[in-house]
Amino acid sequence: MKLSTIAVHTGVNKDSAYNSVITPIYQTSTFRFEDIGTTKGFDYTRSGNPTRRALEESIAALEGGADASVVATGMGAVTTALTLFKTGDHIVCTDDCYGGTERLLRTYAEHFGILVTHVNMRDLDAVRAAVTPATRALWIETPSNPLLNVVDIRALSDIAHEANAMSIVDNTFLSPVNQRPFEFGADLIIHSTTKYLNGHSDVVGGAVVSRMPETAEKIKYLSNAIGITAAPFDCWLTLRGIKTLVPRMREHEANAHKVALYLDAHPLVGKVFYPGLPAHPDHALASRQQTGFGGMVSFELKGDRDAVNRVLMGTKLFALAESLGGIESLIEHPASMSHASMDPALREKVGLNERVIRLSIGIEDADDLIADLDAALAAAAKQ
Ligand SMILES: Cc1ncc(COP(=O)(O)O)c(C=O)c1O
Repeated sequence: MKLSTIAVHTGVNKDSAYNSVITPIYQTSTFRFEDIGTTKGFDYTRSGNPTRRALEESIAALEGGADASVVATGMGAVTTALTLFKTGDHIVCTDDCYGGTERLLRTYAEHFGILVTHVNMRDLDAVRAAVTPATRALWIETPSNPLLNVVDIRALSDIAHEANAMSIVDNTFLSPVNQRPFEFGADLIIHSTTKYLNGHSDVVGGAVVSRMPETAEKIKYLSNAIGITAAPFDCWLTLRGIKTLVPRMREHEANAHKVALYLDAHPLVGKVFYPGLPAHPDHALASRQQTGFGGMVSFELKGDRDAVNRVLMGTKLFALAESLGGIESLIEHPASMSHASMDPALREKVGLNERVIRLSIGIEDADDLIADLDAALAAAAKQ
């Protein structure tokens, strides 16, 4: 089946009592036993819940994995995956990952002695050089947040497997509609379902998807043991969001492409970071590895920090807000917002400076979005 059919038809038919077409919200903390040791499949909602199970089946099917565990936030998904490792294990991580992931890896390194090396994963020799006998995972985020660098999942997964390590890919930015990391050898996929999968900016959530059943079992055990599993209502909202994932992604991308072209031609804009533009250094790789370029566009303003602030405050349709992947367009300043928690030295190293602005392009009319940006840039240029 194609993804749009999977998105609509997986995780339904759960209600054998009334045959509701849509999976109900099983808003219950616990389930009555039929007999000592006999349940109808669920005993306690932290361990399992039919609404959450429906969402897990849906996300696993979309990614083509053995199974998924759905947890309370995207960072909860990162936490669950990191709990696979122990003191002395080493992780090689992309150097321009999401600030919260970098902060958590740093905390795990300090508290639990899990060693982390950040490298530029576009440089495969640097990745090979960073791998040690203790390396247990390569942590990949592509395209990266917020600079939209694209790295080669197949080549990196091969390096991981040669070292007997796992290849873990954060697929939040593209969703399975635009990138399916298991097809390139990844072992584990991380999602902040807060973003495109839910898509409506009304729930935070996360998912860990495993390619192999044994890994899925471990992740399921850990998410229950840590106590990080998601609430039924949040799962229901996300399941609802996923039904329109494919057409939403199409609209996000079409609009992002138009916005990127507009920004590219604007005199106040320096660099535009959008892998869909042929001039983007990773355009060829992105075209090969992705089935679309997604809805995120970042750019560097030519002006000073005051001008940056004027653009951030000058839009009317783009709300100044963290997050991404919702139907509405958002604008934000990574250095002081989404990536404020990132080690400043690492921020500097990856080129994430104060003049970078990140846009999450929604599904409004592209002409209206461009007019909004145009007015904000014109106002910023005037002063
Ligand atoms: C790529 C990526 N991974 C993980 C996360 C964390 O997700 P959450 O905010 O749902 O905890 C984010 C959040 O912005 C993200 O952008």
